[in-house]
Amino acid sequence: SDQCGIAVESRIDCGRDRSLSRADCEGRGCCYVPLPQSGLGGPPWCFYPVRYPGYKMGPLLPTEKGKRATLARSEPSYLPRDIPTLQLDVMPETLGRLHLSLKDPASPRYEVPFVTSQLRGHKDIQNPLYDVDFQPDPFGFIVRRKSNGRVLLNTTIGPLLFADQYLQLSTSMASSVISGLGEHYTPITLDLNWSSVSLWNRDMAPHRSANLYGSHPFFLVQEGDGQAHGVFLLNSNAMEVFLQPAPALTWVTVGGILDFYIFLGPSPQSVVQQYHEVIGYPMMPSYWSLGFHLCRWGYTSTNITRTVVQLMRQAKIPLDVQWNDLDYADQRRVFTFDPQRFGDLPQMVEEFHQLGMKYVLILDPGISSASPPGSYKPFDDGLKRGVFIKNSTGQILIGKVWPGPTAFPDFTNPTTQDWWMDCIRVFHSKVPVDGLWIDMNEPSNFVQGSVDGCPDSDLEKPPYTPGVIGGQLNSGTLCVSAQQYLSNHYNLHNLYGLTEAIATHRALLKVKSTRPFVLSRSSFPGLGRFSAHWTGDVRSDWEQLRFSIPGVLLFGLYGIPLVGADVCGFGGDTTEELCVRWTQLGAFYPFMRNHNDRPNAVRYQSTVLLTPLEVLQRMPPPLEGEAYCSKGQYILFPAPLDTINIHVREGSIIPQQLPALTTTASRRNPFTLIVALSVGNWAKGELFWDDGESLDTFEHGHYSYVLFFAQEVQNRVNFVKLNGSLDGLVLGEVRVFGVQASPTAVWANGQKVHDFSYSPDTKVCNKCLCFILIFKMC
Ligand code: GLC
Repeated sequence: SDQCGIAVESRIDCGRDRSLSRADCEGRGCCYVPLPQSGLGGPPWCFYPVRYPGYKMGPLLPTEKGKRATLARSEPSYLPRDIPTLQLDVMPETLGRLHLSLKDPASPRYEVPFVTSQLRGHKDIQNPLYDVDFQPDPFGFIVRRKSNGRVLLNTTIGPLLFADQYLQLSTSMASSVISGLGEHYTPITLDLNWSSVSLWNRDMAPHRSANLYGSHPFFLVQEGDGQAHGVFLLNSNAMEVFLQPAPALTWVTVGGILDFYIFLGPSPQSVVQQYHEVIGYPMMPSYWSLGFHLCRWGYTSTNITRTVVQLMRQAKIPLDVQWNDLDYADQRRVFTFDPQRFGDLPQMVEEFHQLGMKYVLILDPGISSASPPGSYKPFDDGLKRGVFIKNSTGQILIGKVWPGPTAFPDFTNPTTQDWWMDCIRVFHSKVPVDGLWIDMNEPSNFVQGSVDGCPDSDLEKPPYTPGVIGGQLNSGTLCVSAQQYLSNHYNLHNLYGLTEAIATHRALLKVKSTRPFVLSRSSFPGLGRFSAHWTGDVRSDWEQLRFSIPGVLLFGLYGIPLVGADVCGFGGDTTEELCVRWTQLGAFYPFMRNHNDRPNAVRYQSTVLLTPLEVLQRMPPPLEGEAYCSKGQYILFPAPLDTINIHVREGSIIPQQLPALTTTASRRNPFTLIVALSVGNWAKGELFWDDGESLDTFEHGHYSYVLFFAQEVQNRVNFVKLNGSLDGLVLGEVRVFGVQASPTAVWANGQKVHDFSYSPDTKVCNKCLCFILIFKMC
C-alpha cells in the first residue's frame, strides 16, 4: 500500500526487540517488504508504515516553565506494560536550549540524579533560536532552526513507544556528520550505514562495536554550513542508538524517562558550551596534573618505584607524577599497603614530594569481603554502616575482583560517601597521596552478576536487551536487580563511576584543601566536574594510537577535557618506534600518562630520551622552520624519529616556558612568546595564570588573565586582570614568525633593543621585542 512506499534508507525497523516473520510483522501492523540483501545488518524488511499508530496529543497548556500536554494511547502497542498516558513538557530554557520531557504522570519513574542538579532555569525566553511544531496524531515533534527554517529533528518519521522497559523514539537528522554517543572505539564521526552503538558501562579493552567504560547519550550534528546543534538524552538506562543513512537515528532505552535537551549553538563550540552548562563545567585541574605521569602494573616494591624515578631524573626526563598500580596493596586490598614490599611507602611519597613531584595510586571500589572479621577495617566498618550494594533479597552482593570476593560500595548513599571519606582520610594520614586513580568502576566483576548468580527476573532479562558485550546486562558486572539507596542497579549502573568520582573528589577536597585529582575509568555526563579520564586498556599498536585521537577529542565534547590514552599502549609489547611516536602524540593529550600492563617490556630504557624537553613543557617547542602559508595544499615535512612537527596557526601568540624536570620548577622559568603573524600582520593570544592548586581561584579572582596582541610592528600586552599570582614572572623572549622585512629598530618598554636578530630566509625575528616585565600587584 501507499503507507509502505518509504525509501529504503528511511525505513524504521519495526522489529528492534526481536526478528519477525512476515506474519509477525503484519500482525504488528507493519510493512513487510523483503530486499535482495539479507535483512540482517542492512535495511529492515519489516518497518513502520507512515503514521503508525502511537500516542495522541491533547491541547498544549501553559505552565510555569513552558507548555504541557497529555499524550494517550488509544490501543496497546506490541510491547509488554505500555505506559498508556504520558505527560509532555516543552521548556524553552535559554535562547539556545530547549528542554523537552516525556514522563508517566500517574506514577513516578526513575529519573537520573546528580547530573542536572545544579542547573538553573531562565525565565521568559524571547525569540529563541528554535521553533517547535507538533503532529498531534500520532504524536511527534519537529524542531527547526528559526533563522533558516532547517529541520533539526523530526520525530514523526516513526512511532513513539513508551513501555515500562522499552522506550523508543526515531528522528530525522539534519546531516550525516554526527559525533558523540560514546564511549566506543570509533572515528570522530559515526557510521550511519545501518549501525548501532550501545551505552552500558563495561570493563572492556577498546575495540570496534563494543560498549566500553562510559556512557554519553549526547551527540553533535554539523549542519554543513558551519552551524551545528546537539542533543542530550538524559537517561542512564542501558540504551542502544540505531543510525541509518536517511540520515536518521532511533533511540531505544530500557527504562527511565525520555528527557531531551536540544542545543542550537549555532557554532559547534557554542553547542558544546550549552551542553556543559547543563551537565556542569569541568573542574579546574591542578597545574601538576598537566605534567608527565609515569605508571605501570608491576612496580612490585617501593625500591623498584624509587629506582624508576631515579633513572628518569638521571636521564633528565621530566616527571611530575609517579604512580603505583595494585602492587602496593596488601593482598590487593585497597586502603592497605604491603608491609614487606611497600612497608616504607609513606617515606617514599615524602621523598617524591621533596623532589617537587606528586604521587598517585590506584583505588578499586571492590572491598575485599573475605578477610577474617576484625582484620580489615574498610569492610568491617562498611558492613556496620550499611554501605554496600545488596542483592534483590537484601543480602550484601558479593562479586569477585582482584582481591577475590568483594562487596561494592553504593555511592548513591550519603552514608557511603562519608565512610569513603573516612577511609581516604585515614589512609591519607599515613600515605600522603596527591590524587587517586579510581579504576574498575563500571563496576567490573569477574563473575557474572554475583558469586551466587542472579535471579530470573524482568530486570535481569528485559523484554529487549541492547547489543552489549556478553549479551546480558549483568555480564561482567553486578546483577542489575541489585538494590542501591536511590534505585536498583538496572537504573543506576551507568552512574557507578560518576558517583564514586563524586565521593572521591569530595574526600580529597576535604583532606587536602587543594584541587582534587581523580582519574576515573568509568564515566557519565557530569564526570568532568570531578575527575579526569583515561581511555582504558588500549593495545600497543598503531591503530590504537590513531584511534586515541578521536577518543581524546570526543571526551572534550563530553565535558571531560582532562583525558589521555595510556602512552605507548597498555596491553602487549610496544616497539621503540611506536613508543617514541606515542610519547610525541601524548605530549598533546591533556592528560599524559605512560602506563603498562604487567607482563610487557619495560619502556624506560632508551626510547623516551628522544623527546625529553617537549614532554613536560606540553606546549609547542620553538619552531625552527619557515613560516608556511598553507592554502589547503599538501606539504611534506621530514619527520625523523626525534622530531615532532608542530604547526602554529597564523594569527596566534603562544606563551611558553622553558622546561624543567617538574612543573613545580618549570612554573618559575621565564616565558617566551611565539608570535605567528597572520598574512594581515596581526596575532593574538592569551594566558590564564594562577597558583595552580588553590581552590576556586577563578571564583575568588585570584588569577591573572593576560591578552597578547601583535599588530604590524608593534607588540602589545594587555592585562585584563592582574594580581599577585603573576608576581615574579618574567617574559624572557619574543619570537615573531612571518616578519616580511628586517625591522630597522626594535623598541621595548621605551628602550631600544640592540641584540635582536632577523632571518630573511625563514622570516623569523628573534628577540624582536625582547623586554623584561616584572609583573606587580595591581
Ligand atoms: C585495569 C586497568 C589498568 C590497571 C589494571 C590493574 O585493567 O584498566 O589500567 O593497570 O586494571 O589494576
